Amino acid sequence: MTQPILVIKDMSIVFSSPDEADIEAVRQVDLTLTPGKTLALVGESGCGKSVTARAVLRLLDRNANIPRGSILFQPEGEAATDIARLKQDSLPLRAIRGNQISMIFQEPMSSLSPVHTIGDQIDEMMILHEGLRPKQARERTVALLDQVGIPGARQRADAYPFELSGGLRQRAMIAMALACTPQLLIADEPTTALDVTTQAQILDLLRQLQSDFGMAMLFITHDLGVVAEIADEVAVMYLGDVVEQGSVYDVFARPSHPYTQALMSSIPKMARKAERVRLSPIKGTVPAPKDRPVGCAFTSRCPYAFEPCATIRPERTEVGGGHHARCHLLTRQPVEAVA
Ligand SMILES: Nc1ncnc2c1ncn2[C@@H]1O[C@H](COP(=O)(O)OP(=O)(O)OP(=O)(O)O)[C@@H](O)[C@H]1O
Ligand SMILES: [Mg+2]
Repeated sequence: MTQPILVIKDMSIVFSSPDEADIEAVRQVDLTLTPGKTLALVGESGCGKSVTARAVLRLLDRNANIPRGSILFQPEGEAATDIARLKQDSLPLRAIRGNQISMIFQEPMSSLSPVHTIGDQIDEMMILHEGLRPKQARERTVALLDQVGIPGARQRADAYPFELSGGLRQRAMIAMALACTPQLLIADEPTTALDVTTQAQILDLLRQLQSDFGMAMLFITHDLGVVAEIADEVAVMYLGDVVEQGSVYDVFARPSHPYTQALMSSIPKMARKAERVRLSPIKGTVPAPKDRPVGCAFTSRCPYAFEPCATIRPERTEVGGGHHARCHLLTRQPVEAVA
C-alpha cells in the first residue's frame, strides 16, 4: 500500500481576539493525503476548509494558534516533520513551502505578482529552491507552461499576469505551483471563479498533471459535482468539524451524516429534469463558531436531532471500511421492544 505523504491528526485551530472569547474554527480534524490521490474538502462557507488548508503551510493569520494535534509531513520517512510545531520563517518550513507542498487559489493574483512577467516568477522559484541557472530555469518554465496548456509558451513567458485571460492566468498559477514538482498540491477552490467550460478544462488539466507527477492533492470546493469529478476521498466539514469522510464512492452511495444527506439532496438531479424539480435547500443557517453547541454542530438544523445531540459531541464512528461519520444516530441503541 502507498505510504501517506501527509497525516493531519486531531488538529484544532483557534483564533484569539483581544475583546472576544477565543474561537475554535477547526476542531480535532483527522485527514490523510496519499501520493497520486485526491482528497476533497467540502462544506458550506465558513466551515473551516481554507483555514485547514492554510494550516498545512502555516499560512494562517497572526491571531491563529494550533493548540492541539499534528500535521505530519512524510510521516513514515526518517525526516518526518510536524509542520504544526515548526517555527514561522524557520528553514524547514521555508523548504517545504512552495517546494514540497504548494498551493493554488481561487484568485490567481493572490499568488502571482502583478509587476513581474510570469516567466520570471516561475524561473525564480526554480532558481531559489533548486539552484538552477537562469537559462536552465527558463527552459523548464517554457516546458511547464506548455504542459499546462498555455499556447505559444515561449512568448507568453514574457507576459505580465494582467495581459492574460482568467483561464490562462489560472494555468500560469498552476505552472508556478508545480515548478518544483511538489509532493502535495493544495487547491483552494481553483475553479470557482471560472466559467463552466474553463472550469472543466482546469479540472482535466489537474487530473492529467496529477497522473504525470504522481502528487497528492487536497482539493477544496463547495461543489459536490466537482468532488465527484476529481476526488478519490472526500471529507465533509460543518462548522469546523469533519462530520463525514470516506471514499467518494462510499460517501455518495451511503451518506451517513444528516448534513451530507442534506447537501446531496440539494443537488438537482439531471434525470428528473422533465419533472418539476424541487430543490431542498438546507433549512436555517450555519451558526457562528462562537455559538456552536457543545454537542453536534449540526443540531440546530438537523431533522433527526434527539436528546444527546446538543450536549454530547458524537464520536467518530466507522460506517464501513475507512468510511466514518460523527453522528449519534450511528450509535443509537435500538429502543427495546416493550414486552
Ligand atoms: N483571522 C481570523 N480571526 C478570527 N476568525 C477567523 C480568522 N480567519 C478565519 N476565521 C474564521 O474561521 C472560520 C473558517 O473560515 P474558512 O475561511 O476556513 O472557511 P471556508 O470553509 O474556507 O469558507 P468559504 O467557502 O467561504 O471559503 C470562519 O468562521 C472564519 O470567520
Ligand atoms: Mg475558503
